[in-house]
Amino acid sequence: MEKTDKFHILIILYVCFIFLIMVDVPIDACKRRILFVDKIKIAIVGLGNCASSLIQGIEYYKNNGCEDVNGLMHWDLGGYLPYDIEVAAAFDIDKRKVGKDVSEAIFEKPNCTTLFCKDVPSTGVKVNMGQILDGVSEHMSDYDDKATFIVADEKEHSKEEIVNILKGSKAEILLNYCPVGSEKATRFYADCALEAGVAFINNMPVFIASNPEWSDRFKEKGIPIIGDDIKAQMGATITHRTLVDLFKKRGVKIDRTYQLNTGGNTDFLNMLNRDRLASKKTSKTESVQSVLSERLDDDNIHIGPSDYVPWQNDNKVCYLRIEGRLFGDVPMNLELRLSVEDSPNSAGVVIDAIRCCGLALDRGVGGILYSPSSYFMKYPPEQHSDSEAFQLTEDFINGEREN
Ligand SMILES: NC(=O)c1ccc[n+]([C@@H]2O[C@H](COP(=O)([O-])OP(=O)(O)OC[C@H]3O[C@@H](n4cnc5c(N)ncnc54)[C@H](O)[C@@H]3O)[C@@H](O)[C@H]2O)c1
Repeated sequence: MEKTDKFHILIILYVCFIFLIMVDVPIDACKRRILFVDKIKIAIVGLGNCASSLIQGIEYYKNNGCEDVNGLMHWDLGGYLPYDIEVAAAFDIDKRKVGKDVSEAIFEKPNCTTLFCKDVPSTGVKVNMGQILDGVSEHMSDYDDKATFIVADEKEHSKEEIVNILKGSKAEILLNYCPVGSEKATRFYADCALEAGVAFINNMPVFIASNPEWSDRFKEKGIPIIGDDIKAQMGATITHRTLVDLFKKRGVKIDRTYQLNTGGNTDFLNMLNRDRLASKKTSKTESVQSVLSERLDDDNIHIGPSDYVPWQNDNKVCYLRIEGRLFGDVPMNLELRLSVEDSPNSAGVVIDAIRCCGLALDRGVGGILYSPSSYFMKYPPEQHSDSEAFQLTEDFINGEREN
């Protein structure tokens, strides 16, 4: 075949693909490849430990084939591979991070998570100064520089400037990783996402997706949102929920339970300020209450961050106890200790949340993504058991559910 004939055939194929797109054939991720925009472009607020693990992970999976990878719920998610994600913009307020390339900022102190992929190539994206608002708790200044946030001297960007940065970067999804208790900052960045027309994934426990006032705004604008508060891959919440579900299925009445957590990262340091904890406690507690056959009295359920142990760094230890009654009302109890590196544990889920959000954008679906929110988040707008949420999410990925 002549070279020109091959070229003509390619052109005809390309036109056919474009036609399929125009008639809205659900070929999702393939659309991007045909249009040569194959990566999902993300913007990140908060280049802390979780963002570090996510960015290391995107690079890590680029260098490892699908045959020999571990640690992912999906290698191919609706056509997207783990490395089909690219950072387009980033915001922080720490002097050691602002102004640096994202690939350097993620390794700066006070980040202390494990380095499982040290060679992250330059992204060409510099970290912008964000707005501090209530992101930094006063007590953080009582700690050594290596363990705490140091606010940059740079002028904070206005809302208009942040919206323009988002628009200019062509970011499609904004990930929020602000510290617990950043109520004003989270609302500020959610507002920026709305104004820039960018989807929002809320990884922390300020209620945006689960607050109808906010989620309606995303729905009205046709912008997808997933939230709130990421449920780690194999963390305290999913373990606690699974055990409670097992007790329920085996007919064991639960009387009392606790989940005590310790860690040595800035997330745990920040949470020493109990005034910032209200929504974190609600999110973690409701996540377990929602799988119980009968709600426990507040006095009989205690779940939350319990202490900051500096030498633990990003290692989180969870002590879990469930007391119940078996056949004949005979008492029993279960105790469990779980030890996990906190941030890769969240990134293993965020990497799927981003790809689900990318699919929604490809399909023109806006508003709350109920299925991914219920599987990936602790405090979603609709709670389901984890096995139901898993199935709903698979159906969403396969295009069998709209959201
Ligand atoms: N690790 C997990 O498994 C997990 C699970 C659920 C939720 N989360 C939540 O995710 C969030 C991020 O966790 P992390 O461990 O990465 O925290 P981190 O403390 O390591 O990072 C927070 C980052 O936000 C920056 N920041 C503070 N105020 C800001 C502002 N106003 N604007 C922009 N940036 C600001 C800090 O400088 C820091 O870089 C926390 O709220 C945490 O509770 C984590």
